[in-house]
Formats: sequence, C-alpha cells, structure tokens
Amino acid sequence: MKKVLFLGLGYIGLPTAAVAANHGFEVIGVDVNPVVVETINQGKIHIVEPDLDQMVKEAVQKGNLRSVLKPEQADAFFVVVPTPFKQNHRADITYVESATRSVIPFLKEGDLFVIESTSPVLTTERMAEVIFKERPELKGKIYIAYCPERVLPGNTLYELVHNDRVIGGINPESTEKAIEFYSAFVQGKLHRTNARTAEMCKLTENSSRDSQIAFANELSMICDKAGINVWELISLANKHPRVNILQPGCGVGGHCIAVDPWFIVSDYPEQAQIIKRARETNDYKADWCANRVVEACQQFVTENDREPIVACMGLAFKPNIDDLRESPAKYIASRIISESRAEVLVVEPNISKHPSFNLTDYREAYQKADIVVWLVCHTPFMELPREEGKMELDFCGVRKGI
Ligand SMILES: NC(=O)c1ccc[n+]([C@@H]2O[C@H](COP(=O)([O-])OP(=O)(O)OC[C@H]3O[C@@H](n4cnc5c(N)ncnc54)[C@H](O)[C@@H]3O)[C@@H](O)[C@H]2O)c1
Repeated sequence: MKKVLFLGLGYIGLPTAAVAANHGFEVIGVDVNPVVVETINQGKIHIVEPDLDQMVKEAVQKGNLRSVLKPEQADAFFVVVPTPFKQNHRADITYVESATRSVIPFLKEGDLFVIESTSPVLTTERMAEVIFKERPELKGKIYIAYCPERVLPGNTLYELVHNDRVIGGINPESTEKAIEFYSAFVQGKLHRTNARTAEMCKLTENSSRDSQIAFANELSMICDKAGINVWELISLANKHPRVNILQPGCGVGGHCIAVDPWFIVSDYPEQAQIIKRARETNDYKADWCANRVVEACQQFVTENDREPIVACMGLAFKPNIDDLRESPAKYIASRIISESRAEVLVVEPNISKHPSFNLTDYREAYQKADIVVWLVCHTPFMELPREEGKMELDFCGVRKGI
C-alpha cells in the first residue's frame, strides 16, 4: 500500500489523510465540493482544527497530499463521508453508497476498501455486495473492512494517533490488511473483530454516552419536583466507589451522540427499548427546559405587570465549543423567542455572528436580564458574579443549583 485515497475531506477525512501523508503514503483526497478541493491544494484548510493547517500545508508542499474532485486508481480507499439521518430517524447511507460506487471502476486485485463513516450494522457487507455485483471477478481478491473513528474534535490530531481502534473486516484477511494500514501511524492498540461488530461498536459507544446522560437528565427533573439540588445529589452519589453518574444539561446535541443511537433504534425497534427511551428523554429535557422558561416569563408578568428581559446563555451543544449542530440550547432559545413576548437576548461567546439570532455580549445580557437561563456551562459564564434580584434558571450547572 503506497498510494491511498480518501473520499470525503471533512472533520475526519482531512486530518486522517494529512496524518497518512505524513507517514510515508502518497495520499489522494477526493471531495465532491470544489471549494474544499481548491482550498486544500493551496495548502490551506476549510475546517477549524488546531495544528491541522500546518500539517496540510507541509503535506501539500512535499507533494504527499493532493486533492481532486474524482477518484482515480490507488492501493487503498477510505470512505469518510457524512451519514446523517432522515426524517424517520433512519440512517441516510446514500453518501456512503455513492462514494463506494465512485471507486468501483478503479478497484484492482489486492486493493483495500475501508468504510470509516459511522454506519448502521451491515453497511460494510452491503457495500461489498454493491462492489461485487458490478465487479464479480474481484470477489476474494480485494479486502473490505470497517474502521470507525472516535476522535474528539479539537484534539483530533493527537487522538488519531493515540486512540485505540476497532477494525473489522468482512473476513479475517480483510481485517489483517486494514490492520497493516493503520499500524503505520496508530500508536494505540488495534483491536480485531468482524465488520458488523465494528459497526455496532461505534453506535454502542455513542448510545452508551446518550443513555448515561439521559439518566442524569431524568434525575434532574425528578429532583426539581422533589426540591433536591441535583448537582449536590450526584456529587454525593458519586462518592460510592462503583457509581459514576454524569452531569445533567439542557438535552443532548452534536452530530454524533444525538444521532447515532437512532441507527440502532430504527433497525432494531423492538429490542432497543432503553436506547430509544434515552434518546427520547434527552430530547424531552430540552422541551422541559423551554416550558420552564415560558412559565417563568408568565409568572414574571403576573408579579411585575410587564414582560421580562430574558437572557439565553449559550447556543453550542456543549461547553467551550462553537459547534451548534443538533444543539438543544439553540432549540430552547428558538422556542422562548417564538412562545413568549419577552425581550430575548441570545448569547454565544464562541461565535461572532449567527444567521438567525442577534447575539449579545454575555456580560451585557446578564446585566440587563430579569430572567437568566443558563443553557451551556461555558467557562466565562462560571466567572460571572451573581447579582441579587434576578431569577436564574440553571439547566447546566453554571451555579450548581446554589
Ligand atoms: N466529526 C466528528 O467528530 C466525527 C467523529 C466520529 C465519526 N464521525 C463520522 O465520520 C463521518 C464523516 O464525518 P465528518 O464530520 O468528517 O463529515 P464532514 O461533513 O465534515 O465531511 C464530509 C465530506 O465528505 C464530502 N463528500 C460527500 N459525499 C462525497 C462523495 N461521494 N465523495 C467524496 N466526498 C464526498 C463532503 O463534501 C464533505 O466535505 C460521518 O459518518 C460521521 O458521523 C465524525
């Protein structure tokens, strides 16, 4: 394997291509977006990821990384395209299928074909069928595997090299061939399995996080009703040597944890009871928070004979990032704006502007507001001193309920 080709140069594909280019491979990056291709060929990047710009620049300058719009011949092919879900929560694997079909004419005996995109169970075996239907002569002659990605954006370049990886082929020979590629740059352990277990492993990791957060979110709603400070409760319960409860928030967001569990639920609806309930609980928590704010606005009007000023503190899907994808905080802010007559000040210190919200500086919003709604536990929020006379609704632990 000397020449390797990556299909999809986004948050995962581009860093992986750059790391491979820095480990002796000749890397071809394919993307259907001409802006992405052009940017990378100029030695620049179109995504935010620390140190990636330098790595891409060096790889392009040395001639180890080149970006194109259409695939070409290579020794190994990696599919790293998006896998969103459709309206009915079923995974949309059309990007994976189209990327797979685009390389079929270029496959030759001995090649490796790997899917990295988060995918429903059996996707790799189905893509193998797609390939062999068009090129039956390649059956048993090429290697096909699944190898999911588990990096944390913001720390991608470190984790790409140091995290353990799970690698599952459609047969043991395929697993070994994929191990051979990843061992060129992964310092973490490479764990062998079959394709469907590797697919399920990625979905399991994110469903596990989702279920554990759902437990914390459920506790937060019970504690609210019972008059108990949930932050104190969890901290005390976690003193048990074998208990480790996560922190509640205003829901679960992001394009992984809020999405991937549905790939299990939609394929195994009867069996996936807890996974489905966890997803629903985390979605419900966002509605519960929005309802609480709308009620607080009504109470304010009754007591003060005027509409309140409400500050929605945070839009990102988790603390200290600028990513708003599937964000419950964004959803809650939108609901407050549409369902109350209050003046709503929206705050997100990690972005400078947003197409749908007029953003306000967090200090100014806090100072002006009658009702402060803590939606995301960004570090600067925790440093704001508390002012008397404000109602504060803390859904993410900025004040830890105190
Ligand atoms: N971003 C993460 O943190 C993360 C972590 C783990 C797993 N994943 C999974 O990795 C996969 C990729 O995610 P991402 O965040 O890198 O996506 P992304 O949207 O950042 O990038 C995907 C790229 O693929 C390109 N593309 C689409 N169809 C194509 C095709 N047929 N041929 C070539 N290029 C094509 C798009 O133009 C885009 O640039 C997804 O399945 C995602 O769930 C992402």
